[in-house]
Amino acid sequence: MIIFVMGVCGSGKSTIGDALAQKLNIPFFDGDDFHPQENIDKMSKGEPLNDNDRAGWLAALNAKAKEEKNAIFACSALKETYRTILFEGLTNGHLVYLKGSYELIDKRMKARKNHFMPPGLLDSQFATLEEPTYGIQTSIDQSPDLIIKDIMNQLTADKQEFGLIGLGVMGKSLARNLAGKGFKLALYNRFVKDSEEKVAEKFIEEFDVFNEAKGFEDLKAFVNSLARPRKIFLMVNAGKITDYVIEDLKPLLEEGDIIIDGGNSHFKDTERRIDELAKNGLHFVGSGVSGGEEGALKGPSIMPGGHQEAYEKIAPYLEAIAARDARGNACCTYIGKGGSGHFVKMIHNGIEYAEMQLIAESYALLRYVNGLSPEAISGVFDEWMKAGLSSYLLETSQKLLLKKEGEDFLIDLILDKAGNKGTGSWTTVVMAELGIPATMISSALFARYISSFKDKRTQYTAHFNAETKSGNPINVEALKEAYALARLVNHQQGFELIKRASDEFSWELNLSELARIWTNGCIIRSELMEGLIGQLKEGTDFLLNTPNITAQLGSLREVAVTAITSGVSVPCHLSAVDYLNAHLYNHHTANMIQAQRDFFGAHTYKRVDDPNGPSHHTIWE
Ligand code: 6PG
Repeated sequence: MIIFVMGVCGSGKSTIGDALAQKLNIPFFDGDDFHPQENIDKMSKGEPLNDNDRAGWLAALNAKAKEEKNAIFACSALKETYRTILFEGLTNGHLVYLKGSYELIDKRMKARKNHFMPPGLLDSQFATLEEPTYGIQTSIDQSPDLIIKDIMNQLTADKQEFGLIGLGVMGKSLARNLAGKGFKLALYNRFVKDSEEKVAEKFIEEFDVFNEAKGFEDLKAFVNSLARPRKIFLMVNAGKITDYVIEDLKPLLEEGDIIIDGGNSHFKDTERRIDELAKNGLHFVGSGVSGGEEGALKGPSIMPGGHQEAYEKIAPYLEAIAARDARGNACCTYIGKGGSGHFVKMIHNGIEYAEMQLIAESYALLRYVNGLSPEAISGVFDEWMKAGLSSYLLETSQKLLLKKEGEDFLIDLILDKAGNKGTGSWTTVVMAELGIPATMISSALFARYISSFKDKRTQYTAHFNAETKSGNPINVEALKEAYALARLVNHQQGFELIKRASDEFSWELNLSELARIWTNGCIIRSELMEGLIGQLKEGTDFLLNTPNITAQLGSLREVAVTAITSGVSVPCHLSAVDYLNAHLYNHHTANMIQAQRDFFGAHTYKRVDDPNGPSHHTIWE
């Protein structure tokens, strides 16, 4: 935006223009600096400038304004014809008139020293002045702070302060949350004949909280309704749709505007978008948002990453709508550069996959090995919640098991084929690329994949003729301890993966802060997460340190054995126990692997008596 701050000499154009520029973080230019020397000489001699003197000067200011795109200029602009020259060809120009009485300005001018315009010229300034009947007008008979405040208020008076695109389930909840915090919103939803017509307008009518909101299905009108720099939150499907929306928005936006992507986008897509939009001077913030529909409405956990200066401008909005941690702080923090916000959201989802699978496996063991009813299992989970294992996911599982449809438990009516939207598979690819064995996440993902082959499972069941056995019941106390340790391993692996990515991509992520913003609002919030804040703060990334860890390992092994002999698939528990087993002893399998590699491929090996020494190759036959 270009703002010309006008008024007679002594009205404070330079002071106010400069302060306003700092407030808006855009450059300031003093019109006096654009006068040719002849004009300055004339004014110094006390001779008023005529229209000819001014024409070239005004044209020079207009040219500079066109070049800058975002800037503030102090310029007397006394006559309407002068203002016409100043604004010629500008689509984003604003006029701010500093209005003051002759007496007040005369007093100020007389107190001013070392200025090339003698106070005697004030008469001619007032004689020339044609007060504008449009634009922003503010009285200079108040402190500079109040003048700035008044201008800012008027600049944004008819503008919406925050935009949101995409009124699906999450978008609607976030919009209600934002409006509830008092923000003036512009909401946009696309127009699709017969299926999506006037979605934003109709939605606004539904809730009183939207009394200051405006709804749009015309993207240009939506963008124009927003105060600059524009802040636009995208809640649209990740992938191509996000790119299409960005492409449509790009020509409508101006330097400094900010797009926030709140979808589950791949972090590499986010990095690409940041780079592409930076070419147009636009900011892109990739922000994970967790908590589902209810979280979005009542307070999600928010993980924004990208340029920090862009984050600072949107922080008041995001932090206001985020959930609160136990100390009342927002579960939203600047994550780091580039795609780090979406990266950590992806790992959040990976941890979520394994947490869900562990509960599902505990359920299966209690149901099929111990023969407990859904109601009884709900009771077991309830006990676990009270025994230090409380988490959002265990709580939801405990509740959903009680849901009935007629005589049936609803859980028994749900087809056992698990869906997924991709974040678990992205995490699995990334862990392979980064060389971090977050085996519980990949096991949870593949458990979902196996479940989806329902026909194949039916075929295998008939082929092997092997039923689930309910011989030895699971010791419920051992199952609880096994679950507790497996969760710890899951978090250990997840945070290790984040740490590795942070080092690899130089993101400097603060793991303790991540744990903190994951203590509320998000899907993996838990008592365990609360405890991890302190541990991670101490700089350790070794999280496997509960006092009864040895006994827990015994329980995990016991559960694994019973599950295997009973024929119940528990891939996440098995991954956890195997991950620990693999780390616990020096007698590993890798020497055999190295020997095999060297045998058939001359890949060489190191020797135990010289681990850092040269590589060896053996002629094996
Ligand atoms: C959240 C959730 C949410 C959703 C994921 C996983 O943090 O609010 O993680 O993002 O559950 O999209 O979905 P899938 O299980 O379908 O992969």
